[in-house]
Amino acid sequence: MIFSEDIIIGIPNKLPEAKALDSNIDHAPIRPIKLSLNEKKLAIENALRYFPKEWHRELAREFSEELEKYGHIYMYRFRPDYEMYARPIEEYPTKSVSAAAIMHMIQNNLDPEVAQYPHELVTYGGNGTVFQNWIQYRLTMFYLSKMTDEQTLVMYSGHPMGLFPSHKNSPRVVVTNGMVIPNYSSQLDYEKMNAMGVSQFGQMTAGSYMYIGPQGIVHGTAITIMNAARKYLNMNEEKNLGGILFVTSGLGGMSGAQAKAAVITGAICVIAECNPFAAKKRHQQGWLNEIYHNLDELSERISDAKNKREAVSLGYVGNIVDLLEYFISKGITPDLGSDQTSLHNPWLGGYMPVGMTYEHGLELLSSDPEKFKIEVKKSLKRHAKAVNTLSNNGMFFWDYGNAFLLEASRAGAKVIENDTFLFPSYVEDIMGPMCFDYGFGPFRWVCLSGKKSDLEITDKIALEVLEKLSKNCPEEIKLQYMDNIKWISEAEKHDLVVGSKARILYADEIGRLQIALEFNKAIRTGELSGPIVLGRDHHDVSGTDSPYRETANIKDGSMFTADMAVHNFVGDSFRGATWVSLHNGGGVGWGEVINGGFGMIIDGSERAKANIESMISWDVNNGIARRSWARNAGAKFAIKKAMERNNKLEITISNLVDENILDFLI
Ligand SMILES: NC(=O)c1ccc[n+]([C@@H]2O[C@H](COP(=O)([O-])OP(=O)(O)OC[C@H]3O[C@@H](n4cnc5c(N)ncnc54)[C@H](O)[C@@H]3O)[C@@H](O)[C@H]2O)c1
Repeated sequence: MIFSEDIIIGIPNKLPEAKALDSNIDHAPIRPIKLSLNEKKLAIENALRYFPKEWHRELAREFSEELEKYGHIYMYRFRPDYEMYARPIEEYPTKSVSAAAIMHMIQNNLDPEVAQYPHELVTYGGNGTVFQNWIQYRLTMFYLSKMTDEQTLVMYSGHPMGLFPSHKNSPRVVVTNGMVIPNYSSQLDYEKMNAMGVSQFGQMTAGSYMYIGPQGIVHGTAITIMNAARKYLNMNEEKNLGGILFVTSGLGGMSGAQAKAAVITGAICVIAECNPFAAKKRHQQGWLNEIYHNLDELSERISDAKNKREAVSLGYVGNIVDLLEYFISKGITPDLGSDQTSLHNPWLGGYMPVGMTYEHGLELLSSDPEKFKIEVKKSLKRHAKAVNTLSNNGMFFWDYGNAFLLEASRAGAKVIENDTFLFPSYVEDIMGPMCFDYGFGPFRWVCLSGKKSDLEITDKIALEVLEKLSKNCPEEIKLQYMDNIKWISEAEKHDLVVGSKARILYADEIGRLQIALEFNKAIRTGELSGPIVLGRDHHDVSGTDSPYRETANIKDGSMFTADMAVHNFVGDSFRGATWVSLHNGGGVGWGEVINGGFGMIIDGSERAKANIESMISWDVNNGIARRSWARNAGAKFAIKKAMERNNKLEITISNLVDENILDFLI
């Protein structure tokens, strides 16, 4: 059956043949199953409610096996046979262009080229899913194929509840993922609810259909390294990172982006990776320039690169602790340092202890998990000691949101003084005050025609807009403009597009607005051959309340509140978003963050223009206003500028209190 016919059927009329697991593709790790007998029955009953009674006997056994074997009912049998990728928008059977755009984005998030474990519907981050099972995918595509612009599809954690009457300018889809009662938001609650098929972890952009492949993470990492150099090494516009030595670890999923990103910034990047396969993969892919097994050879290559001020990424196959201790013994002090081992998951292999090979570490983990835990703690103490020594010698270190400082402190390492960590987190010191407070965040777009030529035109338009705006922009944000001008002029050369024809750049409110309006004009005049989806990562100025990441530089005590994320979600919905999403979890984990985002289709119309003007400004300014109210200087500056541009915007401004006023309180 051809693709378009399959889509409009939804749940098949005939029970498809059972499918064996495809061994040519990477599969998700088995999930720990923590269900009682009654809960298992409920999980199977929940899965069967999608199907006619006559299939129940056969499917009940199959689903029970899936639950026992994989810890989750994926309904592999219902995975479609057609190829999964973002097709040009006109190939989707639909009554609504917006619905077709959403189908394009969903398929991109499940494309094997893009997704981490496509057959388990996981896009990235190990467990960030688009749907909980294949029948939810089928049913959602079915609804999207038949919906009109006077209906809204309601999504509960991957489950399409159905189409509800609405109106033309309301969102076509409203998505919630993992929204639970706060007291039931533990890891165990998640594992149970997910196994029972009633909730899912949508990460930030998987369950909101806005993931665009590795480009986003490379750009974000490049921005972080550049701004770290500015903050800690007094870099300015004239100087670049030539000759700067950055040491870090991890060549895995996200961490692998460090190699590519550092070279884009002009730095010398040395990355320790204990898994030889991960290092080899990044090398073969072209993201890591060279691999070393011998520390003396590596050290010679570093001096050579320093002398030549060469932009290069050098992988060390071994443990980060060995690398840092070697640097200390040889008197090598990197300028910048960080760590991207998976310490959000320290006891299940996210961090490999020093003193053993990767294989030995894995063996110990399965034969004696308690001993493994002790080794991880010992290693973390040595690791932190080496970081402290290098930092005393002059290296600037930051925590990359991977819980390095948290786990090192729990292991008993000396990383806390006066109740605060000795080193900042990347959002606290870099992304927050230098980007988010001014409204800069990961704005992105997707050309729905699927044509490379359209993407090239949008790059050109975005470049022109940024160049124009940079001429008169305030000094405070000049460098951010310059970085993004450089990025967008070289974006095609970096060849990071995988899946849909998408682009990302960091832009502020006015930048996002102007770029979007120019795109809309180009669609209207026919310069662009099809509509465009606008969106953003949830890891942004607005949309995400996450006390140890996105809102880590909010210091008025409101870092544990989530009003901002909810307001973004609701506010976007009545200002013209095509779809909106609100998630529990994402990046730092279930229960640790609430994040919201949107997708907006623009088609060249006057209505699209009005939607851009209304929604984009709100979506950015909501976050700036919150940061400004928390007394963040950059945000106070940015919100005042926004008010000067728009006389309908009136924000409550915080007053600063002189320190001595409170001296009477001892
Ligand atoms: N890149 C970002 O922008 C970003 C942002 C926020 C958080 N993070 C965090 O960074 C961490 C890494 O993410 P990922 O997707 O790359 O995970 P990953 O598990 O795919 O990669 C981590 C890599 O570290 C290696 N490793 C583990 N212990 C090591 C050791 N002692 N020495 C050398 N190498 C070691 C592993 O072999 C693995 O390849 C996560 O905790 C993630 O949440 C990244």
